[in-house]
Amino acid sequence: MIEAGKTYVVMGLLNSDSIAFAIGKSIKEHGGKVIFSVQNERLKRIFFDRSKDLSQEEIAALDIRYCDVTDEAQVKAFFESTGEISGLVHSIGYANPKTCLGAEFHTDAIEDIKNAFNISAVSLATIVRHAYPHMKAGGSVVALTFESRLAFPQYNWMGVNKAALEAVVRALARRHGKDLIRINAVSAGPIATKAATSIPGFEMLANTWQKISPLPWNVYEEKTEVANAATFLLGPLAKKITGQTIYVDGGASIIGGEMLPEERA
Ligand SMILES: NC(=O)c1ccc[n+]([C@@H]2O[C@H](COP(=O)([O-])OP(=O)(O)OC[C@H]3O[C@@H](n4cnc5c(N)ncnc54)[C@H](O)[C@@H]3O)[C@@H](O)[C@H]2O)c1
Repeated sequence: MIEAGKTYVVMGLLNSDSIAFAIGKSIKEHGGKVIFSVQNERLKRIFFDRSKDLSQEEIAALDIRYCDVTDEAQVKAFFESTGEISGLVHSIGYANPKTCLGAEFHTDAIEDIKNAFNISAVSLATIVRHAYPHMKAGGSVVALTFESRLAFPQYNWMGVNKAALEAVVRALARRHGKDLIRINAVSAGPIATKAATSIPGFEMLANTWQKISPLPWNVYEEKTEVANAATFLLGPLAKKITGQTIYVDGGASIIGGEMLPEERA
């Protein structure tokens, strides 16, 4: 588990459904302090401040700052504002659903592909480059990914970016071993969040999980389990784990074919 009293940065908060929110909650439950980042003030007003399950007092009590990971100056300023940290979560992804996702894989929207690559994969390296000087005693970084060894329908360029993100995790793990900073990814099964439900074919993915997951998988509830795995990776119990992609997907990633009716819970 995480180290009590230490500060952890969780980037990629949109609303209270975000995986980032569940991770922040889990870190706090285990005694850590959390600084969240939201992409910009406008998105916070539109989405986070209208989260139905949070009171205005609960929202005001959170440490929420702003950082668009495509803006180098903002990333630099953000980490200058956090002071010393023990860990960092990258819970960020974006691909234009009109061009990079959907029924047709081929697209000539190269700028959209580059933008999706920058936000969803390169940004992990960008934030670690600015964060590691603030992790002088070592630390842990966790990124959120989705099964990238298989080609799922409609996930298209996001699947490509997730494969790249996992490769960035390995490269960073190699680079920062000497700084005693560990970098890992949690590969989550489908979770109903804003980003996920904007993916064309999300319903299809959710249905697929009902057929291939050996453990029951509830797209509305399992983010707590995903968050707890991130909390484990952030803390000293995972001291010798780095460069890994840990699957928190109900076991779907190891199944050949579908679960037979008599094999299901
Ligand atoms: N929901 C799922 O089914 C699922 C499964 C596996 C992995 N993931 C991954 O988990 C992570 C979090 O997604 P989520 O499902 O919680 O959705 P979400 O919509 O709550 O979070 C995505 C976040 O990315 C942020 N973002 C996008 N562009 C950004 C930019 N330029 N700068 C800073 N932030 C930016 C958004 O503002 C948002 O806060 C993503 O990497 C996603 O791919 C999600």
